Amino acid sequence: MCGIVGGVGKLDLRTYLLSGLKKLEYRGYDSAGICYTESGKTILSKVAGRVASLEEIVPENIHPTVGIAHTRWATHGQPNAQNAHPHQSQRKIFSIVHNGVIENFRPLAHQLKARGYSFNSETDTEVIADMLERFYLRSGSVIESIAQTMEALEGSYACAIMFKDEPERLYFMKKASPLLIGMSDGCMLLASDPVPMVDYTDRFIDVDDGDYGYLTPTQVKIFNGRVEIEPRFVHRNVDSFRSDLGDYPHYMIKEIEEIPGVVVRLIDNYFDGEHFTFNESMIETLRHTKKIHFLACGTSYYASKMGAKYFRPLGKEVLVSIASEWAYDPYDITGDTVFVLVSQSGETADLIRCQKIINDRDGISIAVTNTKGSTIERKATYSCLLYAGLEVAVASTKSYVAQVCFLALLFAALENEIGVVLDIDRVVDSIRNIISRKGEIEALAEDCKEVRDAFFVGRGYDYLASMEGALKLKEVSYVHAEAYPGGELKHGPIALIEPGTLVVGLVSDPEVSSSIRNNFEELRARKGRLVIFSTAAVANENDAFVANDVKPYLAPNVLVVAMQYFAYYVALAKGLPIDKPRNLAKSVTVE
Ligand code: F6R
Repeated sequence: MCGIVGGVGKLDLRTYLLSGLKKLEYRGYDSAGICYTESGKTILSKVAGRVASLEEIVPENIHPTVGIAHTRWATHGQPNAQNAHPHQSQRKIFSIVHNGVIENFRPLAHQLKARGYSFNSETDTEVIADMLERFYLRSGSVIESIAQTMEALEGSYACAIMFKDEPERLYFMKKASPLLIGMSDGCMLLASDPVPMVDYTDRFIDVDDGDYGYLTPTQVKIFNGRVEIEPRFVHRNVDSFRSDLGDYPHYMIKEIEEIPGVVVRLIDNYFDGEHFTFNESMIETLRHTKKIHFLACGTSYYASKMGAKYFRPLGKEVLVSIASEWAYDPYDITGDTVFVLVSQSGETADLIRCQKIINDRDGISIAVTNTKGSTIERKATYSCLLYAGLEVAVASTKSYVAQVCFLALLFAALENEIGVVLDIDRVVDSIRNIISRKGEIEALAEDCKEVRDAFFVGRGYDYLASMEGALKLKEVSYVHAEAYPGGELKHGPIALIEPGTLVVGLVSDPEVSSSIRNNFEELRARKGRLVIFSTAAVANENDAFVANDVKPYLAPNVLVVAMQYFAYYVALAKGLPIDKPRNLAKSVTVE
């Protein structure tokens, strides 16, 4: 994971680097660091913790000519200042920031040790700095040393590199981890994504795998292998990368309350009032394929589970796999399968690995993502955007609802079922109603703030929603939460129910409501503490929260919003860092 920024030229680099890092904190936030050259001197500062702590120790009145900075999600070594980036080579001639993982760093470190190198950190990154130095001392050329280092490295990396004797040059290299170059007046910028750069430019280069090169204030040089590549800047609409909190205390609640607008926008983008407007060739491909195989991680995986259930009536085989599992056991790659890759960020490393496997075997893929220009979006056969707007809070909220509604619309397009659009319109109304009653959920959460364990229980669609509800609670509230299908409890998990154990029950589907109510009674008989979220058609008088009715296949979208509020308010009552929970990062760019 981790976020990197770099810049060279005429701009206030301190502001760009530090504000850029803050915008990248969603990629990791356990330590941070900066390195810059001023009056020919290289200055390095690193801290454990957030960018705000780094900001306190970087003097205000600096005027660097080149600089790099990093916010970290620890992969190798503890999150302390020593392991924080930038890292420097032994003779301090190279300073680098790195996003990715070097898989062969142990043998490389071994080789370097044999040549007299010693290490100041436990990271895989320091090895890159020393490899650059070693090759530079042999060749006398920075570009050559980068090319040779890339040949030696295995794994993923996006690196920004400073060389001590070149105060107006910023080097870079990239494989598998994202990296963008931005061009502004009299300066060139680098970052892991466009967000840090949107106040400076709307012209970008997506650096390709295998590319390396350097930036000067006015020039870009790119090489791949030993061949020079013509740099091509493309204009991007940067508005979709902006988001500010407005009057909200946290992005998570802001993004929950954006959901009705997100769903309306989604419908507008894929339905013109009479017809669905999906890419025709994609629809035909889906109609003719024998199998549809969803691949995703985390929340996007739970949304895919729901989508897969929608697709089953098509009479095709529909599979859903966790990307990190399928990547190491990639079955089912035949001409009969269309892969649907679902990802908010479009940059999740496990999914990118799946995509590479599919592309290497000429498979067909559809990317469903919220991020235009992301790796998944660019590399898929077909791509569909969610139009949910930038999601900043680490816990995914509006994207889940957008993903599920998107998959319902896609199914409807395949079946020419225009009625689905009306069904989704009712979802919008029901969610608006939940937003207007969030105080009720806050009161329930306040009562539950002391719990350490929770079980989320439902059947059918409600079980699928309860998986997402449990994930939200554990992520932001640090409550151990597990989801079970109601019928499965008696096969083991019910042994864990003690007097007072919190059970969040979901019931919206009339077909299973009597059986799930029986399961709730079994839990009550063991003195479990039930908090039941239901919809009006199947509500009981003791239910804790009753949402307005929608069609059962869409009800999870409504109940999930109530679950999102529940997780938010439990975390709020516990005083936790809601938008940036411990150990997590928004975009999981390492496997
Ligand atoms: C949970 C959450 C994660 C992501 C997962 C996949 O709130 O945000 O579980 O859903 O890391 O990320 P994307 O969708 O960006 O591929």
